[in-house]
Amino acid sequence: MSGIPHDHYEPKTGFTKAVESRLPIIGLIHGTLMIPTPKNLNWMWIWGIVLAFCLGLQIVTGIVLVMHYTPHVDMAFASVEHIMRDVNGGHMLRYLHANGASMFFFAVYLHIFRGLYYGSYKAPREITWIIGMIIYLLMMATGFMGYVLPWGQMSFWGATVITGLFGAIPFVGEPIQTWLLGGPAVDNATLNRFFSLHYLLPFVIAGLVIVHIWAFHTTGNNNPTGVEVRRTSKAEAKKDTLPFWPYFVIKDLFALGVVLVVFFAVVGFMPNFLGHPDNYLEANPLSTPAHIVPEWYFLPFYAILRAFTADVWAVQAVSFITGGIVDAKFFGVLAMFGAIIAMALVPWLDTSSVRSGKYRPMFKWWFALLAVDFVVLMWVGAMPTDGIYPYISLIGATYWFAYFFVILPLLGVIEKPLPTPATIEEDFAAHYPGAAE
Ligand code: HEM
Repeated sequence: MSGIPHDHYEPKTGFTKAVESRLPIIGLIHGTLMIPTPKNLNWMWIWGIVLAFCLGLQIVTGIVLVMHYTPHVDMAFASVEHIMRDVNGGHMLRYLHANGASMFFFAVYLHIFRGLYYGSYKAPREITWIIGMIIYLLMMATGFMGYVLPWGQMSFWGATVITGLFGAIPFVGEPIQTWLLGGPAVDNATLNRFFSLHYLLPFVIAGLVIVHIWAFHTTGNNNPTGVEVRRTSKAEAKKDTLPFWPYFVIKDLFALGVVLVVFFAVVGFMPNFLGHPDNYLEANPLSTPAHIVPEWYFLPFYAILRAFTADVWAVQAVSFITGGIVDAKFFGVLAMFGAIIAMALVPWLDTSSVRSGKYRPMFKWWFALLAVDFVVLMWVGAMPTDGIYPYISLIGATYWFAYFFVILPLLGVIEKPLPTPATIEEDFAAHYPGAAE
């Protein structure tokens, strides 16, 4: 693959020459830091750094939490209270970890929607996108299992509901559910395996993040115009880019600082705002909470899961055709995973010749509706399942699928895109007419 042409590291001193000929690590660090980066990247390109920070924060705070936590059903809840009350700075540690998960998901959703708007998933960045989707799935698994560890009421009942979904798979559902739980119900074996995996997965994510970065360093970053950096010569590539260090490092660190101001305000002043009060009650298998609500970041997909009830004609039709094998519950599970798979398939569903949504007059509106749809689904996912709410969920879930499987493929054919700038340099000059070369 021909990357963006740029200067490569040349060791100058005897020492660096000796190191480079044995382990080219200085060249690797130099290549990573000095990578040519489109100079027109806007503020939506900061979320990757915020995500990397979140991953680091979760690993560091998690490792210290584990020093005081006990993964046993008789002691887990009390050990978390012990962290909150007795351990030095323990309450801060726990609140950083719990709210850190929220910041992680907030950032990942903006990162994903940035990609969806600017067409960052389109060729040649499909592998970056797919690895991103795998990271996102692993983040969800990690978040879900982490929430079980404090062994509160929502931990227990959330785990019961979500693992119960696997029980809806025809024929093999029950054995799979038992295998996941390590027994017939959520119990000590479940807590232990969730603890083990919750500790492991962030390191798997870290490995995938390295591959993710490797992939977009190979293709080069996308940018708001969707126009590629010129690769015909080093001189032309230089006119479209700036080295990552110092320009984007400073920009990203500034943005991270601003995000952290908000984050620390939440951690310091309203650390339980995003949590559920029922999780301050110890898990009790004999008392089901009135409403079992997952964490906010699962709500859009939880709404899609609940949208397809036995009253929906499509569910009845599929159930009839499959001789009852696909019932409403299994349909909901398929829809929930299908909603994420739809996103993963977007590089092949978007047929437009133009990459960035900036130059797509019709796409813009449908995309805006998708963003609104996501927020509405998040809201309705926390609402009860009676009254108007099931209808809202159904409309929201239907739009989600329609966007990916009908609207996006069609738009590429019927839409007339606006002219795109010929080069990134031209776009940059139009935004910053006074900027030096
Ligand atoms: C731990 C999670 C993740 C980390 C640390 C991470 C990190 C990054 C970084 C540092 C960039 C460079 C540009 C930027 O900052 O926006 C990037 C680009 C990208 N990410 Fe992620 N990412 C993560 C998850 C995801 C997910 C879930 C997706 C969605 C599928 C995704 C899709 C992309 C795409 C398509 C690009 C290329 C955009 C471009 O080149 O401008 N990433 N990622």
